[in-house]
Amino acid sequence: MAVAVLNSYSGADALSIEQRPIPTPGKNEVLVKVAFSPINPSDLATLQGHYGFKDPTPIVPGGEGSGEVVSAGPGIMASYFLGKRVACTGWGTGGGVWSEYVVKSVKGGVLALNKSLSLEQGAMSFINPLTASAFLDISKKEGHKAILLTAAASSLGKMVNRLGRKEGIQVVNVVRRDAQVDLLKAQGVDIVLNSNDAGFEQQLHDVCHQTNTRIAFDAVAGPLTNQLLKAMPPNSKVTVFSALSRQEVQANPGLLIFENKRIDSFWLGPWLSTQNVVKMMLLWKQAQKQIPSHLKSEIRKVYPLQEVKEAIHDYTSQMTGGKILLRMS
Ligand SMILES: NC(=O)c1ccc[n+]([C@@H]2O[C@H](COP(=O)([O-])OP(=O)(O)OC[C@H]3O[C@@H](n4cnc5c(N)ncnc54)[C@H](OP(=O)(O)O)[C@@H]3O)[C@@H](O)[C@H]2O)c1
Repeated sequence: MAVAVLNSYSGADALSIEQRPIPTPGKNEVLVKVAFSPINPSDLATLQGHYGFKDPTPIVPGGEGSGEVVSAGPGIMASYFLGKRVACTGWGTGGGVWSEYVVKSVKGGVLALNKSLSLEQGAMSFINPLTASAFLDISKKEGHKAILLTAAASSLGKMVNRLGRKEGIQVVNVVRRDAQVDLLKAQGVDIVLNSNDAGFEQQLHDVCHQTNTRIAFDAVAGPLTNQLLKAMPPNSKVTVFSALSRQEVQANPGLLIFENKRIDSFWLGPWLSTQNVVKMMLLWKQAQKQIPSHLKSEIRKVYPLQEVKEAIHDYTSQMTGGKILLRMS
């Protein structure tokens, strides 16, 4: 089978395609014939060695994907999955999914896909849909009626906006280019600010106070985190969930001490592990139902696995344009 292998944590140029034997599933494991996998920002961070997992190289990257279970190891759950179309994660057993076949544990490594869902959308049905659902869940539990979101023209951003509209939560969007303002407005989003506008800080302050926005989900970090903290009313918090700027979070201590503003973080895996099994299955079922509508990802182009380097260069050249999928065979 063909596998994309990362030979050192130095980016896409350190990837090569290797031929390896098809692995055999053990107890409570299944063999998935992988169909598609997206390139996500977390994959880019993995290639650079900036992500939360950093096993010694060589590693197989790929944080999520879809496919069909073609063989099962011993165990009732493994037999249950045999022949099923599944979403699989790149976490834990078997590693990343940029591979024609992958062995996954039935305890969290694979989830059955709705029959109506395409394998293309199924490949992107885990990370962003569950993160968007989690943001709404957290905000509602904490009693927020408005949320602030950065890098909002992303696939995830569009999902949060569609869910927010459905749930009656106002989303205050921050992007970095005028074209992204136009893109979101064309999709019916009403509040979008460009962080590179001269009057950005004042505009953000005004809109956060008018809408009583006290929670921000920040994918950018660096100085923007401090701008969000500064703009929101006292007793607000910024939840940092990515570092697209590749910079350290900045925060003025006065905002933390005298205005009781806080910074925390979100990472999907640990957040899911704090939910009970019933809640997790409910989230998954709801997300599956909503993928054709609120939680859909736009696909810009599909590349064969053999062209993984070109696919990554294309993705990084215009991330806002939609997802790039890798087709495994
Ligand atoms: N913590 C978690 O568990 C978790 C889970 C899911 C997603 N995420 C994060 O959520 C974010 C969105 O993911 P996605 O898959 O939806 O992304 P995506 O569709 O690929 O879009 C990425 C977006 O980020 C923008 N961007 C890139 N670098 C930026 C920077 N330095 N400053 C401001 N904007 C920047 C891009 O704009 P340009 O077109 O201008 O480059 C693009 O709009 C990512 O950071 C991802 O890591 C985190």
